[in-house]
Amino acid sequence: MVHTDAWWRDAVIYQVYPRSFADSDGDGMGDLPGITGRLPHLKELGVDAVWLSPFYPSPQHDAGYDVADYRGVDPLFGELGDADKLIAEAHGLGLKVIVDLVPNHTSNEHEWFRAALAAGPGSPERERYIFRDGTGGEPPNSWQSVFGGSAWERTPDGQWYLHLFDVSQPDLNWDNPEVRAEFLDILRFWLDRGVDGFRVDVAHGLVKEASLADWTQPSQILGGIDPAGPPPPMWDQEGVHEIYRSWRQVLDEYPGGRVLVAEAWVAPADRLARYVRPDEMHQAFNFPYLEAPWEPSALRAVIDESLEVNNTVGATTTWVLSNHDVVRHATRLGYPVGTPRMHGVGAEDPQPDTALGLRRARAATLLMLALPGSAYLYQGEELGLPEHTTMADEFREDPAWERSGHAERGRDGCRVPLPWEADAPSYGFGPTDSSWLPQPATWAEYALDRQQGVAGSTWELYRTALGLRREHGLGRGSVTWQDGSFAFRNGDLLVLTNFTAEPVELPAGARVLLSSEPLDGDGRVPADVTVWAHL
Ligand code: NOJ
Repeated sequence: MVHTDAWWRDAVIYQVYPRSFADSDGDGMGDLPGITGRLPHLKELGVDAVWLSPFYPSPQHDAGYDVADYRGVDPLFGELGDADKLIAEAHGLGLKVIVDLVPNHTSNEHEWFRAALAAGPGSPERERYIFRDGTGGEPPNSWQSVFGGSAWERTPDGQWYLHLFDVSQPDLNWDNPEVRAEFLDILRFWLDRGVDGFRVDVAHGLVKEASLADWTQPSQILGGIDPAGPPPPMWDQEGVHEIYRSWRQVLDEYPGGRVLVAEAWVAPADRLARYVRPDEMHQAFNFPYLEAPWEPSALRAVIDESLEVNNTVGATTTWVLSNHDVVRHATRLGYPVGTPRMHGVGAEDPQPDTALGLRRARAATLLMLALPGSAYLYQGEELGLPEHTTMADEFREDPAWERSGHAERGRDGCRVPLPWEADAPSYGFGPTDSSWLPQPATWAEYALDRQQGVAGSTWELYRTALGLRREHGLGRGSVTWQDGSFAFRNGDLLVLTNFTAEPVELPAGARVLLSSEPLDGDGRVPADVTVWAHL
C-alpha cells in the first residue's frame, strides 16, 4: 500500500554515529545517555528523525557492524534501559527513532557462530552460516572481501566460512528458515520497544547465487556493480525481495508508520527502485546522488532519474551527501571535479581545498534540502565538519586499513568525535579530554557554540533551511527545471545553484530567502552558491 501522507515521505533524518556523538561518562567513547542528553539540539536544528548506527553488544571489529547480540546494548554505550530512555525522550520531543539492523552477517562472537565452530562440519549449527569445503587448500571460490583479501576464512577443521566483510563478520545463510525466523523476532523486539524503523545494512547482499560461482572482479560495496556487466553472484539477487516482503508484513502490524530503509549499493536506478516497491521497503539510500560530481548536467541527470524511477513504484526519493562510510562532503568537494572516489585520506595524500570544499558543501546541502522527498544528514555536517585528513595511521581502526594492505586509509576520518564547545576538553564531546579517535587541532572553529546564533554559520544555515523547507512544503513538492542556469522551481520557491565561475543574475522580482553565501554587491549569485528565492 502506498502511504501518501506518511511521516517519512518528506522526513529529514539525522544519522547519529553513537561512538562519536556525545560521551556522557568521559571514557572517550560516545554513549546512549550522551545522545539522549543532546536530543534537544537536534530538535532545535529541525530534523524529523534520528537514525542510530549500531549500539548492540559487539567486539567492535567493524565499529559495531559486527553484532554479537541483536537484542541488547553494548556496555560501551550503556544498557537496554538507556535505549528505552532515548526512544522515550526522542518521542517526547517529536523525533522518530530508526535503528540499524545488520542481517547479512553476525559477529564471530555471536553465540550462533561459536556454536557453529564447535559443532563441526555437516551440523545444523553450521547451516546458519555459509560453510564450504575448499579444494586443495584453496578457498571454495575466488570471492574477495569488500575490505580486501579473500572472502573466505579457514577453520581449524579445514572447512571455510564466507565473510563478505571482515573475517570477524561471518555471512548468515538466508536459505535457512531459522535465520529468517530469528530476524522476524528481532524486528518485533525493537518494534515493541517503540522504534520507528530500521536502516537495513547491506540490504542487497543477504542472498547469494546458489552455485557460489567464481567472481574475479572486485566485490567492493561502493560501485561494485557495473550496470553493463554480468550480475555479481553476491549482490542484488532476486531472493532478497521476498525477505523484505515478509518484514514489511511485520512492520505493517504496528501503528504509526514504521519504516524499512535499504542500504543497497545497486545499479542502475531501476534495480534499486525494486527495493521500494509498495510491499517491500519504504526508502533506499540514494548513493548515485551522493556520488554525483559537482557538475550540473550530472546532478540534473541523477535528480531526474531518481524522481522518475521512484515514481514508477510510488516511493519517495531520498537524498544523501555524507555518512559514516564515505569521505565527508565538505572534504570531497574540496578536490577537483572528477577526482575518483576516495577510500579515506591520509596525511601524505593530496589535501583538499578546505575553503572551497565548505563553500561547495553548503551550496550542495541547500540544493539537496530543496528537493522533494526525504533527506539524510550525517552528524557534524551541520557544523561544516571536514574529514580528518591528517590522522596518524596508528589511530586507524577501520578494518579496511589492515585488510587492504594499507591501500585504503579507510573510514576513520569521517568518524571523529564531534566538537560541541570550542574551549572545553575534547571540544565538549565528553567531560574529559579523551576521544577514541583524535580530533584535529583546528576543530574549535567548527564547535557548535561558535556557530549557534552566529549569522552565516553553517549550523544557522542548516537550521534556517530546515525551517523553510518545512514552511514551504519542499519535501512534498516537485521539481520544474527552468531555462538557462541550473535552476528549478519547487512550489513557490526558485532554487538556483551557480556552477559557473561567473556571477549569475536572479530573475526580476526574485526575493532571496536564503543563500549559501552572501550575494555579490550587485545582488548576483556568485560561483558555487545556492539560493532559495521567492518568486
Ligand atoms: C555498511 C555499513 O554502513 C558499514 O559501516 C559496514 O562496515 C558494512 N555495511 C558491513 O556491515
